[in-house]
Amino acid sequence: MNQWGMDTATVMHGVFGDPIKHSKSPIMHNRAFRELGLNAAYAAFHILPGQLKDAVAGIRALQFRGVNVTIPHKLEVMDYLDEIDEDARAIGAVNTIVNDGGKLTGYNTDGIGYVRSLKEEAGFSAAGKKVLLLGAGGAARGVAYALAKEGASAVYIANRTVSKATELADSISAYAPAYGMSFDETIDIRNDVELVVNNTSVGMHPNVDEVPIDTSWFHDRLTVSDLVYNPLVTRLLREAEAKGAKVHGGLGMFLYQGAYAFEYWTGREAPVAAMREAVLEAFR
Ligand code: ATR
Repeated sequence: MNQWGMDTATVMHGVFGDPIKHSKSPIMHNRAFRELGLNAAYAAFHILPGQLKDAVAGIRALQFRGVNVTIPHKLEVMDYLDEIDEDARAIGAVNTIVNDGGKLTGYNTDGIGYVRSLKEEAGFSAAGKKVLLLGAGGAARGVAYALAKEGASAVYIANRTVSKATELADSISAYAPAYGMSFDETIDIRNDVELVVNNTSVGMHPNVDEVPIDTSWFHDRLTVSDLVYNPLVTRLLREAEAKGAKVHGGLGMFLYQGAYAFEYWTGREAPVAAMREAVLEAFR
């Protein structure tokens, strides 16, 4: 091996996105490979719209073992794969590709990654519980689906554009009772829910003073989770903590979507602690 630890046997991985410059995935996965002593590497690829089909063909040609797919390619990439996992099909997006000898299978690890991080980091399991999700965009889809599949007794989805909340609720209603609503209507279900998740971009850098919902009703039996991880602690989480609620930050979902991808590619348990350390170092 050379000074970077790479040689002709190195197993290649990567992430396709646009933009991709700020991705922490290479740092996270390369640390994980190193931690387990695997001869593998992971790089970021800036794939422009219109070039995704060729890029996916490149996975086969170059014999990459695995690729993550991020904004804006998670939907279109499904057209170029040989097989799509049932969960990814239900969510309608792929973020992880596994290459088995030229056969490409698409998975979605965002939702299951979220549920696993919620369990590991906040000790929260959604089975039998009512949950309130804020937002109905791309990030909300995987979270809503995974919480429904975990057995939530009700999934309430509030969104600025109510029709999108209703559509998302309808799309998961086969797995759990689900209801779309406006932010105002959440007043009626506040006292029933045990988890609130922010799936909107509200509170994200640079708009760090914004909160997606009034927090005056938060209490100490509630878990409040924010998918935003820049900043690591949002105003929503600070206000939740002040009310005694348990808080769960967005870094967890990023870490555990990566952990599942790593496990699909390598068949090894992901070294999550080392991955977290690498990502936190990169944020400093
Ligand atoms: P992502 O892939 O990150 O989920 P997205 O699909 O664009 O991004 O979804 C962004 C989510 O944040 C949506 O639910 C959006 O609400 P709308 O569907 O009404 O657009 C929500 N969102 C973004 N900015 C918002 C704001 N200022 N107030 C309330 N909701 C907002």
